[in-house]
Amino acid sequence: MNPTYTWMDGRLVPWQESRIHIASEAVLRGASVFEGIRAYRAADSDELNLFRVGDHLARLFGTSMRFLRMRLPYGPDQLVQALVELLRANQVREDAHLRLVAYFGPEGEGDQPAGAFALAFPRPRSRRVTEGTRVTLSPWRRISDNAMPPRVKASANYLNSLIVSADAQSKGFDSAIVLNERGRVAEGPGQNLFLVRGGVLSTPRTTDSILEGVTRATLIELAGRLGIPVQERAVDATELYVADELFFCGTAAEVQPIVEIDGYRVGEGRIGPVTERIQRSYFALVRGQAQAPEGWLTPVYGQPVAA
Ligand SMILES: Cc1ncc(COP(=O)(O)O)c(C=O)c1O
Repeated sequence: MNPTYTWMDGRLVPWQESRIHIASEAVLRGASVFEGIRAYRAADSDELNLFRVGDHLARLFGTSMRFLRMRLPYGPDQLVQALVELLRANQVREDAHLRLVAYFGPEGEGDQPAGAFALAFPRPRSRRVTEGTRVTLSPWRRISDNAMPPRVKASANYLNSLIVSADAQSKGFDSAIVLNERGRVAEGPGQNLFLVRGGVLSTPRTTDSILEGVTRATLIELAGRLGIPVQERAVDATELYVADELFFCGTAAEVQPIVEIDGYRVGEGRIGPVTERIQRSYFALVRGQAQAPEGWLTPVYGQPVAA
């Protein structure tokens, strides 16, 4: 069922009336940038908390919009308030996924006009978080920094992701891992990637054609708390086939064990011990059961909405 409201350019709009003009650059060229953000129900109350919304807004304004010289008539705080209003208006009380989009409108004189909108959908946990996912190494390459920079979360980048996912699914896999233009491991179509070998966690560097993931950064911090060593380094393709554990991570994917790659079983073919510790600690954090740094959990119902 569709939500009752969306948020568009400063106001709540009924779902059926949520439209942008066909002459907008967003429609004609995919000229928009966005964030996927989650709200989690707290473990010990009825509160719903946005997770690391400030860091998502920082990536939207500080990387994506900045790179594309996109200016909005709203600041990050106003957009956080918009997300809070949207969740409240739709009476969302359970886990939800939000999409916040900043887009170029129709080409005009001088500064190109830009607008923003937000969508919120209930989003229960995927069964792949417990059952794991089966992947292939994609024959397609990740977009590169000097053509379509992956650290800029632009909607048009996701045509690359769509090609990768469609190819993997047509071959019977759930998803795929993509190499960058230099033949090193980059990430999944919409997830960052970690591997475990000999008790050490490794993940591709932010210069390996990946999105600078908020969840990736969270897991690096959690691994530190758990005393698990982490390396951010170039990862070879063969390392994927000999890893003890592999997992995807992302706002939407959460912490998702990869149990098979191209017919090779990963570890015991189910969630491995390091992945399990990281996953448990991630879910405790997002549900408010573990100590969260200041600003990581933003209550939706517990705070007044600014006028
Ligand atoms: C290509 C890509 N990589 C990684 C991620 C994970 O990023 P985050 O943890 O910030 O959601 C995403 C999720 O949006 C993504 O689309």
